[in-house]
Amino acid sequence: MMAKSLLKRGIGVMLFAVGGLLAPLSVAQAGVDVPKLPPAKGASKCVEDTDFMRRNHMDLLKHHRDDTLRLGIRTTKHSLKGCVECHASEKTGSVAANKEDFCVACHSYASVKLDCWGCHATKPAQKSAQKPAGHPSAVSGSTRAGGDK
Ligand code: HEC
Ligand code: HEC
Ligand code: HEC
Repeated sequence: MMAKSLLKRGIGVMLFAVGGLLAPLSVAQAGVDVPKLPPAKGASKCVEDTDFMRRNHMDLLKHHRDDTLRLGIRTTKHSLKGCVECHASEKTGSVAANKEDFCVACHSYASVKLDCWGCHATKPAQKSAQKPAGHPSAVSGSTRAGGDK
């Protein structure tokens, strides 16, 4: 147990040392349990206590998913969309586009691989930005088109 967690910690530090920019931070944080994570957007608190989230988010998401799919219950408090909205990084706009992004940073450190992103978006829903030109809402919704004047 001990040896394994020490080994994991060692691997995590190595991963982040390879991460370049984060190297100085990871040295400063060696001995801390989590790697450096991008800050959450637009909120100072998670949907539950941070410490609780660190330990239990996987169960929250799974239960929530089970509730949604089997029982037809749909609350938003623990929705995966919510996680993505707050935790997408500034740099990539995603929670899982590179190894520094929120969901991946810890998971690669802990050797966890998610199969969620084949079906679920890793980025918050975009407004008009991603709609193809000529799509009705790309015209009415856009404030950036600038072609009319
Ligand atoms: C309203 C915005 C918001 C939503 C929605 C949200 N979070 Fe958070 N989350 C935060 C903030 C802010 C923190 C950092 C709190 C702190 O530093 O004490 C955080 C912290 C965390 C942490 C601990 C990170 C660490 O530093 O160790 C985990 C894990 C986490 N969130 C997972 C999730 C998951 C999974 C979801 C979706 C079920 C989610 N969050 C939804 C804002 C949010
Ligand atoms: C094969 C496709 C598929 C995969 C893979 C998948 N999901 Fe889902 N998930 C769905 C569908 C379909 C729904 C129900 C429709 C919806 O709510 O958008 C759903 C709903 C959910 C919900 C409730 C709605 C929400 O936005 O919160 C959560 C939470 C969730 N999934 C989490 C996960 C997690 C975590 C993983 C990875 C461990 C995962 N899902 C993998 C298809 C998938
Ligand atoms: C603070 C570190 C940390 C962050 C940030 C984090 N996770 Fe995790 N996550 C873990 C660890 C550690 C595990 C493995 C726990 C275990 O094996 O019991 C895990 C496991 C999971 C699992 C279960 C995987 C499985 O196959 O059973 C899901 C689903 C999950 N995380 C979703 C997310 C999502 C979505 C995000 C981003 C919103 C996220 N996590 C961010 C540390 C983190």
